[in-house]
Amino acid sequence: MVRHTARIFTWLIVGSLGIVVFILFQGDPSVKVSPETPMPILWKTNFSKLPLWDFEDVYNQDATPRNTMCQQSLRNSKDENFKKAFLPNIRLFLHKGNINMSEWNRLSHFNNPFGFMGYSYNDVMSSVKLIPKPKEPLLSPKPGGDGCIHCAVVGNGGILNDSKKGKEIDEHDYVFRMNGAVTKGYEEDVGNKTSVYVHTAYSITTSLDLFKKYGYKSVPHDEGIKYVLIPEGMRDFQWLGGLLRGEKVQLGPYREKWPRTYYMGQYNETRFYVLHQDFLRYVRNRFLKSPRLNKHSWGIYRPTNGAFTIFLALHTCDTVDVYGFMTRDYAKYSNYYFQRNVKSHVTFFTNHDYMLEMRNWEKLHNSTIICLYQRS
Ligand SMILES: *[C@@H]1O[C@H](CO)[C@@H](O)[C@H](O)[C@H]1NC(C)=O
Ligand SMILES: *[C@@H]1O[C@H](CO)[C@@H](O)[C@H](O)[C@H]1NC(C)=O
Ligand SMILES: *[C@@H]1O[C@H](CO)[C@@H](O)[C@H](O)[C@H]1NC(C)=O
Ligand SMILES: *[C@@H]1O[C@H](CO)[C@@H](O)[C@H](O)[C@H]1NC(C)=O
Ligand SMILES: *[C@@H]1O[C@H](CO)[C@@H](O)[C@H](O)[C@H]1NC(C)=O
Ligand SMILES: *[C@@H]1O[C@H](CO)[C@@H](O)[C@H](O)[C@H]1NC(C)=O
Repeated sequence: MVRHTARIFTWLIVGSLGIVVFILFQGDPSVKVSPETPMPILWKTNFSKLPLWDFEDVYNQDATPRNTMCQQSLRNSKDENFKKAFLPNIRLFLHKGNINMSEWNRLSHFNNPFGFMGYSYNDVMSSVKLIPKPKEPLLSPKPGGDGCIHCAVVGNGGILNDSKKGKEIDEHDYVFRMNGAVTKGYEEDVGNKTSVYVHTAYSITTSLDLFKKYGYKSVPHDEGIKYVLIPEGMRDFQWLGGLLRGEKVQLGPYREKWPRTYYMGQYNETRFYVLHQDFLRYVRNRFLKSPRLNKHSWGIYRPTNGAFTIFLALHTCDTVDVYGFMTRDYAKYSNYYFQRNVKSHVTFFTNHDYMLEMRNWEKLHNSTIICLYQRS
């Protein structure tokens, strides 16, 4: 009988609108007990602000520890606040091998992209079960180098117009870009090399339409490029289903699209990575916790794709130089560097906290954890 052989944990979790009791049976490995099942779905609309579970700030930390021989590595930072917040071995990537039913149930307490709140098990897991385990770490030190991994993260900010930073950017071991990363015609200012391209299903499809008029014809597709997906919503799991099977997307806004065609022949599952919900939540909770999380619209707030890219670099590189991100004098520049003929205004989308991010980059720069390109 299950009652005699299983230990029973009862978690009492008090949400702002009611009490939910979860009873989890954790089996004794020597006996067969009924398998766990997905917990009842929680809905964002049932919470008037970010719910805070007692396991909110607990993360899987099983990334391969990096034995960095690099003296100047940001991992050796003496900055007290950074040391307290930074988890060098936080789990970065989601794959079929690191999710099980108790993980599903844990992550179902957090809204997307920080977890699976509001989603049904089968809708998400039918795609997650296809994600192969990454065979190698995202980045390794370059042979013959100084043992450090030197990275540039290049945002699309107008500050790069006429910056002449292209050569300096390309000289880094690895260059990260995201979203509408137009380089053709702008090489002198932004370089032409992309080693890691970070995107969502939305950004990879929409950027082609939005930025066509600036010469954006396809995603970066350098030989051997690594692609990183931020699974921000259900549409990303639908995208993944099509991508990993090499088929059309079956459901949702990208239905009938062929994801593989977007990667210009460079899609290769050994070089494709999906960010883990714990990593995304850790970035929000420990570095970009916006006051908006206390408001009714808490559920739409998330850091920008650019912010997640900087933090991915902070966890995979030893030195990180950041270009094309918002600085105090942002109003002097266009929204994007490729808007160079007519000055545009920076667009503030309501799901992001740009001012918080801007202060955060400045803070990381001041404590020499990143080097932020600030023009004046
Ligand atoms: C929670 O949200 C769901 C979906 O929006 C709704 O159907 C349900 O009535 C809500 N429950 C409570 C207790 O407000
Ligand atoms: C489920 O996955 C978590 C996190 O990877 C792990 O700690 C736990 O032991 C796993 N549970 C089972 C029953 O395999
Ligand atoms: C970038 O430009 C350099 C110098 O012009 C060239 O050697 C290199 O092949 C280009 N790289 C890519 C990915 O286009
Ligand atoms: C995928 O990439 C790996 C590592 O770069 C390479 O060894 C393999 O041949 C590639 N596969 C295909 C089908 O291109
Ligand atoms: C971009 O830089 C060029 C100089 O190369 C300058 O003429 C132009 O006004 C700049 N565009 C914007 C929007 O500031
Ligand atoms: C960074 O340093 C500059 C110059 O010392 C200072 O004016 C600014 O307030 C600092 N920014 C932050 C966010 O600490």
